[in-house]
Amino acid sequence: QLQAVIFDLDGVITDSAEYHYLAWQALADELGIPFSREKNERLKGVSRMESLEIVLEGSRLALLPEAEKLRLAEKKNDHYKEMIGRINPADLLPGIPELLDSLRERGISAGLASASLNAPLILERLGAARWFQAVADPAELRKGKPDPEIFLKAAELLGVTPGNCIGVEDAAAGVVAIKAAGMKAVGIGSAQQLGAADLVLSSTSELSALKLLELYAG
Ligand code: G6P
Ligand code: MG
Repeated sequence: QLQAVIFDLDGVITDSAEYHYLAWQALADELGIPFSREKNERLKGVSRMESLEIVLEGSRLALLPEAEKLRLAEKKNDHYKEMIGRINPADLLPGIPELLDSLRERGISAGLASASLNAPLILERLGAARWFQAVADPAELRKGKPDPEIFLKAAELLGVTPGNCIGVEDAAAGVVAIKAAGMKAVGIGSAQQLGAADLVLSSTSELSALKLLELYAG
């Protein structure tokens, strides 16, 4: 029986993935290093410091001392926080409020598995915290996606068996993490990027409790 659905945040619950992209692009421009939407795909689901390493990859700045790198990551985060400070309930992606209501009515729990340290703040701004019975804290975990740890942690907090869960992700690394956790995976985005998922939908508006129940049963 389907016990819980565990969601990624950025790009699934709200489009903060776009703000991450804009903030990294601004930092890259300032540093005079190339960055693109294509490279940005690799940052989805990846922690802040690991993301910085990818942004700096191929540049001499990759050799900067750790303290300087922390400063750059903080700079990106300040810009990001400025942008997410304007997030409000209208920024919930299409179909998400309906889906979370419907899961609750059916007694199916919702959990959050986001690598973002800003996730609790964003949930608050969205007015979405009330829908989630558990939020995994990435600061307490050892390994990021594609490691399954964060999805397993969310399941543990919810008190459910991973095999009775579905995970929803917009990132390739996230889909791999869900599958490694022994859960069924729904990818939001292009089938080309998210081919490893059990079901790929092009938008959150196509998500529904019925579709998830069908996927779980099938
Ligand atoms: C999510 C996003 C990543 C982001 C990471 C850390 O996983 O998909 O793009 O880098 O969270 O976010 P943070 O808010 O902690 O910098
Ligand atoms: Mg994401």
